[in-house]
Amino acid sequence: MSLLELDGITKSFGAIHALQGIDLKVQAGEAVGLMGDNGAGKSTLMKIIAGNFPPTSGRIRIEGSDVHFHKPIDARRSGIEIVYQDLALCDNLTAAANVFLGRERRKRIGPFSYLDHKSMFQRAGELFAELKSETRPRDLVRQMSGGQRQAVAIARTRLSDPKLVLMDEPTAAISVRQVAEVLNLIHRLKETNHAVILVSHRMPDVFEVCDRVAVLRRGAKVADKYIKDTSPEEVTGLITGAIESA
Ligand SMILES: Nc1ncnc2c1ncn2[C@@H]1O[C@H](COP(=O)(O)OP(=O)(O)O)[C@@H](O)[C@H]1O
Ligand SMILES: [Mg+2]
Repeated sequence: MSLLELDGITKSFGAIHALQGIDLKVQAGEAVGLMGDNGAGKSTLMKIIAGNFPPTSGRIRIEGSDVHFHKPIDARRSGIEIVYQDLALCDNLTAAANVFLGRERRKRIGPFSYLDHKSMFQRAGELFAELKSETRPRDLVRQMSGGQRQAVAIARTRLSDPKLVLMDEPTAAISVRQVAEVLNLIHRLKETNHAVILVSHRMPDVFEVCDRVAVLRRGAKVADKYIKDTSPEEVTGLITGAIESA
């Protein structure tokens, strides 16, 4: 039984057919690269799996059961976490506040309930250390580098113990060292039997950490192959359309 199974997913925005009949299976412990040119539908597919909006048609199954996500919290309850392409952080809040956004820890003193900042700062610090990031829990996101912001968005997915982590271009616009950290994290997620869908334009990243690669072109899946059975040249051809499908 697959961890995630998409069956005939379509999505239309008015006259725009962003996705057309996408089938995709992801197994526990597997990393799947999702590639395609700008506008191919990658982010739309990630957002459907993460519960941002429902598909126009098609089915989503988690561990064999049909799910209907109406909002991101529904997907989160099913064990799905996402790092959005734009990271979706609140610039005016601290790193720790962003990590715990919507999941704040509270403590009770008598009849009163307070935000437990101490425990949140501490846990956020542990998560950044795990990611080998120099991000400090009390720093404002507004003042952070691209790599630190990335660490905040990824730390947020580590708060729960998700079954599937979706990453939309996590290595765009960060330094070489930070890319290595993100790829390391994906390796560690796989080792602990978590599944990852990695949206990326970076062929070396996909070939390093993914077991499979799926290619979208104009809203349709044109290939779904094991990394060992394909090559960067073939995937490039599939992305551009030089190769029709494979
Ligand atoms: N909220 C939206 N409203 C209207 N059109 C959208 C919306 N989101 C995405 N699209 C369109 O859907 C198509 C796929 O977009 P997207 O999923 O962002 O592609 P990718 O992430 O592969 O670059 C594009 O034509 C885009 O303009
Ligand atoms: Mg996108």
